[in-house]
Amino acid sequence: MDTIIGSDIGEAVEYLKTGNVVAIPTETVYGLAGNAMDPNVVEKIFQIKERPKRNPLILHVRSLDAAKNYVNEWPEWADLLTLAFWPGPLTLLLKKSSLVSDLITAGSDRVAIRIPAHPMALELLNRIEFPLAAPSANPFTYISPTTAMHVFKQLSGKIPYILDGGACKRGLESSIVGMEQEELYLYRAGAVNLELIEKLVGALQFKLPINTVLDAPGMLAKHYSPKTKLVLTQNLLKSVEEMSGKKIGLLVLSTTHPSILKYPHVELSKSANLEEAAENLYAGLHILDQMNLDLIIAETLPDEGIGRAINDRLRRAATI
Ligand code: TXA
Ligand code: MG
Repeated sequence: MDTIIGSDIGEAVEYLKTGNVVAIPTETVYGLAGNAMDPNVVEKIFQIKERPKRNPLILHVRSLDAAKNYVNEWPEWADLLTLAFWPGPLTLLLKKSSLVSDLITAGSDRVAIRIPAHPMALELLNRIEFPLAAPSANPFTYISPTTAMHVFKQLSGKIPYILDGGACKRGLESSIVGMEQEELYLYRAGAVNLELIEKLVGALQFKLPINTVLDAPGMLAKHYSPKTKLVLTQNLLKSVEEMSGKKIGLLVLSTTHPSILKYPHVELSKSANLEEAAENLYAGLHILDQMNLDLIIAETLPDEGIGRAINDRLRRAATI
């Protein structure tokens, strides 16, 4: 199958209406999207992504009204959060309605749902009658894509169309929030800062999403990983010194120390701005992963604001 990269929303709509899976831009990362109401299409998404069936998919809808068709509850906290963050990078876990298949939720009685904020994704959703199931458009456990070219490099030949909406503005996946036994949980740190969520609904507990625990010991948190080995360090200069015999590349917030310049490196934000660092994170990992290095050394970012979500991704990328 030839894979075309284009910016024709009409063409993407045609592919989706005829049961195909296409990559679409969102404000967080590119999604591998298909008709969530068609089990054959949902099967295709799992196959193309090589994702285990026990790992459920997020529903993408165009409006609050549309969202309410697919859930059986709409608690007050959902109102507060969606009012503030939808359309946007916040996914809610809510009791599913009977329209949503067990395949989408991996057997859970809750469905993950969000309205994406990318204008092309919204226009696309407005031109179809069904919600889109869309995991990030990367092979299972690999680095998420934030450009059409990232998707092409990983999935060309497997999907007919990549809708090119430019580089994703937020660069990190959505934050995932849901309630269990009257307690609100953050299941994935993401593009909406935890502090902002807690301002509206109070303190959250933390938990990994269900069904993401892999069978093999040691694989527990592996995700978002480059093929090149990655180590995460609090002390960049010391780690660089220790590894200086190897072909190393560095992922740094900003190049504050001249000795860094000797090595291939990606600077996430010249002004050490964490939002900008999030936007550039996956592109930086993609670049370093193509350089044939022995090792990528990434520095831990300040554990504040979106820096916490970035550190979460780097920790998982570093798990071997
Ligand atoms: O920003 C995003 O959320 C992107 C864009 C494309 O929207 N999507 C994304 O999807 O990151 P994915 O499939 O790569 O990650 C979805 C996460 C997984 O960790 C999954 O376990 C969790 O959401 N999830 C989905 N449905 C769930 C459910 N019913 N119960 C618990 N966790 C769920
Ligand atoms: Mg993903």
